[in-house]
Amino acid sequence: MSDDKQPVMTDIAALKTELASEIEAANDLQSLDDVRVSVLGKKGRITAMMKTLGQMDPEERKTTGQALNALKDEIADLIKSQERALKKQEMDQRLATETQDITLSPRPERSGKIHPISQTMEELVNIFGAMGFSVAEGPDIEDDWHNFTALNFPPGHPAREMQDTFFLPEDPSEDGEYAKKLLRTHTSSVQIRHMENNKPPYKIVCFGRTYRSDYDMTHTPMFHQMEGLFIDKGVTMAHLKGCLTDFVRAYFGVDDLPVRFRPSFFPFVEPGAEVDIGYTKKDDGGIKLGKAPEGQEQKWMEILGSGMVHPNVLKNCGVDPDEYQGFAFGMGIERLTMLKYGIPDLRTFFECDTRWLEHYGFESTNRPNTNTR
Ligand code: PHE
Repeated sequence: MSDDKQPVMTDIAALKTELASEIEAANDLQSLDDVRVSVLGKKGRITAMMKTLGQMDPEERKTTGQALNALKDEIADLIKSQERALKKQEMDQRLATETQDITLSPRPERSGKIHPISQTMEELVNIFGAMGFSVAEGPDIEDDWHNFTALNFPPGHPAREMQDTFFLPEDPSEDGEYAKKLLRTHTSSVQIRHMENNKPPYKIVCFGRTYRSDYDMTHTPMFHQMEGLFIDKGVTMAHLKGCLTDFVRAYFGVDDLPVRFRPSFFPFVEPGAEVDIGYTKKDDGGIKLGKAPEGQEQKWMEILGSGMVHPNVLKNCGVDPDEYQGFAFGMGIERLTMLKYGIPDLRTFFECDTRWLEHYGFESTNRPNTNTR
């Protein structure tokens, strides 16, 4: 029996050397797998030797069995590490030889555009910022006091009627005038809030949404206004005229743009003036801003409302009208934008059509520099 045992163990040792060199010689994953099958597969060499264990006596079976199992594990480990080496080699080779073609042009990327309203607001901030105005804010939901009463609207004024103003349900937690909330019909309410909360002098502009119950080519129920307020000692109508003339000329970029101040009524100013700018009609039906050449009719269009702030308004905000005076002005931002950029229909501003925005919108790189120091 001991005679028999020796040869089997010798066979195992020999097989091990043989298999180790076969594994090392396998230089691709396929031939390595062939080796694995020929050794460990169903008809493999170790598997075949395992089958002979049944014919051995118990002691021999034990030692041979152990030796075979150890061999099996060792061979499996060798195959694993050879596999890893081959994979790494393959990857190294791919990295060294494969190239990525980066010359293919990228697909165009859709980039957003700045809405013309935002663009205009920034232009306005720039112009008034350069004149020393700072920006104030106020809420869209107002009460009767800030939107009407403090602004010297008489009790029966038509703007208080339901058809013009959007009223909200009454707020039961507040009394009287304050109970009746509404969507502000103009940004003049911000003048009031600013004067109530700050000491004069005042030099502010404010931008925001305003609401009136109206809808056609030139009216939408929501639109944007800009309001300006300048109150100090000794401010006169001459300051108003100078400031607004400079403003329209800067905004439209026409140095000699004719500007006309036409008497008008707003309850919160006295005197009040509407500001018109001059233009001429072109042959194609379009308009050209500026002074009419000899022989052509000078036309005028209204562009903003203005006036010297009414003493009652100042008093309502706790400001002494004998000490402080000044002017206010207000304008529709859509209208300024339509005129400058030739946008014909107001309603298109709010239809959220991306093709419209693509056409009329601005690249962010075209934005004016907002650093107005
Ligand atoms: N608030 C006025 C409007 O909405 C505009 C305006 C503002 C007029 C300030 C005069 C002074 O029409």
